[in-house]
Amino acid sequence: MSRPNPVYCAVDTIDLAEAARLIRQVAGGVRPAVGGIKLGLEFFLAHGAPGVRYAFPDPIRLTGLGFFLDLKLHDIPNTVAGGIRAVIGLAPSYITLHTAGGKAMMRAAVEETGAQALKLGLPRPKLLGVTVLTSLDDSDLEATGITGAAPAQVRRLALLARESGLDGVICSPHEIAPLREACGPDFVLMVPGIRPAGSASGDQKRIMTPRQAVELGASHLVVGRPITQAADPCAAAEAIAREVGVNNV
Ligand code: C5P
Repeated sequence: MSRPNPVYCAVDTIDLAEAARLIRQVAGGVRPAVGGIKLGLEFFLAHGAPGVRYAFPDPIRLTGLGFFLDLKLHDIPNTVAGGIRAVIGLAPSYITLHTAGGKAMMRAAVEETGAQALKLGLPRPKLLGVTVLTSLDDSDLEATGITGAAPAQVRRLALLARESGLDGVICSPHEIAPLREACGPDFVLMVPGIRPAGSASGDQKRIMTPRQAVELGASHLVVGRPITQAADPCAAAEAIAREVGVNNV
């Protein structure tokens, strides 16, 4: 039996035509090669909601693909709730926000997400927290007044996210095992920093293969360049999906 495809393709470009082409390639076929599409800050700032609807149109979306809208919201509770209101009509499956915004901000986001989804008759998007950006090391954290090692801070913020009603967090491959243990089996762990064996690591330092990450307990994998820069993005995505036990791609 095949498992649901956990691979989200990160479409990191501000070129609208390029985004549309990539999405068509990896997700537009009868059997999509990915489980979902991630669009982030750069694409959304450049093209907004109309860009999302153009590059990732309903005929592709409605085949059951996930949509990860990675905006990493971080502001006062009222403004983050407003941000959620502004994008919920796009029916994202996942929206990200910074756990460092605190409990009140996360709770406001949870409440607004539930209320707006109900009002619009949409499935409730899941909210995922960003803990410590993987670009920060212990000395960067110390410079911002946070003493102690990064893993402890990641764990603290993940538990705060869960307590505040978030559905999961984004985490590096090396945080999967401790967070799965700390936050339980139902907490969503969305994991970037994935490189199929033998592919270029690019600027990613703490990488893991798709299979290792899934075996450790990742819920979803975010994969960008190994798919988007491949000569055949669809074939590259299919190979990753098969590596983690998805047979029907
Ligand atoms: O091309 P690559 O596979 O490295 O892309 C990974 C995606 O995951 C990018 O969209 C990147 O912004 C995102 N990401 C990451 N590391 C994090 C958080 C997000 O690489 N810690």
